[in-house]
Amino acid sequence: MFQLKNVTRRFGNRLAVDSVNIDIPQSQMVGIIGRSGAGKSTLLRMINRLADPSSGSIHFGDVEVSALRGQALRDWQRNCAMIFQQFNLVPRLDVLTNVMLGRLNHRPTALSLLNIFSRDERLMAIAALERLGIEQTAMQPAGTLSGGQQQRVAIARALMQNPKMVLADEPIASLDPLNAKIVMDALRDINEREGITVITNLHTLDTARQYCERIIGMAAGKVVFDGTPAQLTAAAVHEIYGSDKDGAGIDESMTSTSINVANLPTGELAPQSASLKPLTLAGI
Ligand SMILES: Nc1ncnc2c1ncn2[C@@H]1O[C@H](COP(=O)(O)OP(=O)(O)O)[C@@H](O)[C@H]1O
Ligand SMILES: [Mg+2]
Repeated sequence: MFQLKNVTRRFGNRLAVDSVNIDIPQSQMVGIIGRSGAGKSTLLRMINRLADPSSGSIHFGDVEVSALRGQALRDWQRNCAMIFQQFNLVPRLDVLTNVMLGRLNHRPTALSLLNIFSRDERLMAIAALERLGIEQTAMQPAGTLSGGQQQRVAIARALMQNPKMVLADEPIASLDPLNAKIVMDALRDINEREGITVITNLHTLDTARQYCERIIGMAAGKVVFDGTPAQLTAAAVHEIYGSDKDGAGIDESMTSTSINVANLPTGELAPQSASLKPLTLAGI
């Protein structure tokens, strides 16, 4: 069980995250929604300890995550892999090396500095790329790939960390609908097959409804909704997103980039990307 207890983060006198209490059992797929500035990214960054709470505490089982230091902190960061909207790959390095960089926290510093990877690590990286259906890009510089391919490389890199949890900060906000679907399907696959907890910030409601068993709505740093897609009524949506200046309620379609590929012309469905390969990451 993963727990946030009264977690608060201030920037100056601004409350970015305000007394958040959340319990997340292992293997849940959780979507966090809310307006820009609601505190979603700050919340994820605190879970990964890229940012520290101003007050409150974060727990994973018996471990107080918010108190970890040194090697224990690095181990935690390896256990919760981050996926970012802008992929955060090293553009001039080839895809395979980018994926192997996910192993860095598993190995002695000297070997890491020299970028020396073992045969097993290479095989593991290739298996991860195969699983995401992009093994043919292994030798290309990562920066030459499309956005959707780059995000799949980032997911392959995350898998190399053998994470207990994947934290994704608007992973599909820069992608077209087809690639958005491929990336969300990949996150769901990791969640269902390996039982890895996935917590993802999403800018579209329909994606959260479609993929997440649990939706957390944030507004002005606070959790204002925590429930299933079915419980997310129009009134709850209104509380999360508020209404615009003229008093009109939010229209759900405003927060939607439809991920429904059935509406795409058939020519846009590249054969190799239409579904994820049903491979397991044995040994990873
Ligand atoms: N490093 C920072 N310095 C100052 N203010 C920040 C910083 N990061 C976030 N904030 C502020 O905290 C609030 C929440 O931001 P953020 O977590 O990025 O929201 P979201 O991801 O929901 O858009 C915003 O008001 C934002 O301006
Ligand atoms: Mg954000």
